[in-house]
Amino acid sequence: MAEVDDELGVVRLGDEAPDFEAETTHGRIRFHEWLGGSWAILFSHPRDFTPVCTTELGEVARLRPEFERRGVRVIGLSVDDVDSHRRWEADIADVAGAPMWFPMIADPDRHVSTLYGMIHPKELDSATVRSVFVIDPDRRVRLMITYPASVGRSFPEILRVLDALQRTARYPVSTPANWSPGERLILAPSVPTDQARAVVGSDATELRPYLRLVDDPGVATSEAQ
Ligand code: BEZ
Repeated sequence: MAEVDDELGVVRLGDEAPDFEAETTHGRIRFHEWLGGSWAILFSHPRDFTPVCTTELGEVARLRPEFERRGVRVIGLSVDDVDSHRRWEADIADVAGAPMWFPMIADPDRHVSTLYGMIHPKELDSATVRSVFVIDPDRRVRLMITYPASVGRSFPEILRVLDALQRTARYPVSTPANWSPGERLILAPSVPTDQARAVVGSDATELRPYLRLVDDPGVATSEAQ
């Protein structure tokens, strides 16, 4: 029998993102209200004033136009309090050369971390590991990635999966291995080959009857939101 710890929360793909109230650097929020029907990314950091986290948050600060272009709201979390977050933010802005434009959740009682299963005690005592949750406009969890404390996240990969998720939410397609925006996509089995142009805007190239490729239709920002 697998070892399961109910105290540590379990969120699965397709679940409604759990709601919560929390203090943040932008004031108190109720998460579902804050989502407001947008795509969103929630990511956790082990602690304030830690080196890997400082580089990650600085990268998100610099990538503001990329998240905005995709209509994605961003919110971070660490287990320290708002005063500590504010002091740390000044450092991050200085190191990154870009202001912190998104809220950071303070989670000293581990309420949110526990709800989302961000605490992996065998990896890192009672602090949060590097979790990433992508949430769609219907508040469903569409992607989860978990990194250990020692490995900083790849933000090109996070932007790439946001692009992939927004394509697959809008069109009956999936993305092949190593897909990047502009490359061909896989047509869903539900679409007959001769309907491809009407449905995704390009003819399908049939490599196998079960593997048909179509051009990337892209996603306009208004469609992504
Ligand atoms: C870091 O962000 O550098 C870090 C945080 C917790 C444990 C190890 C490293």
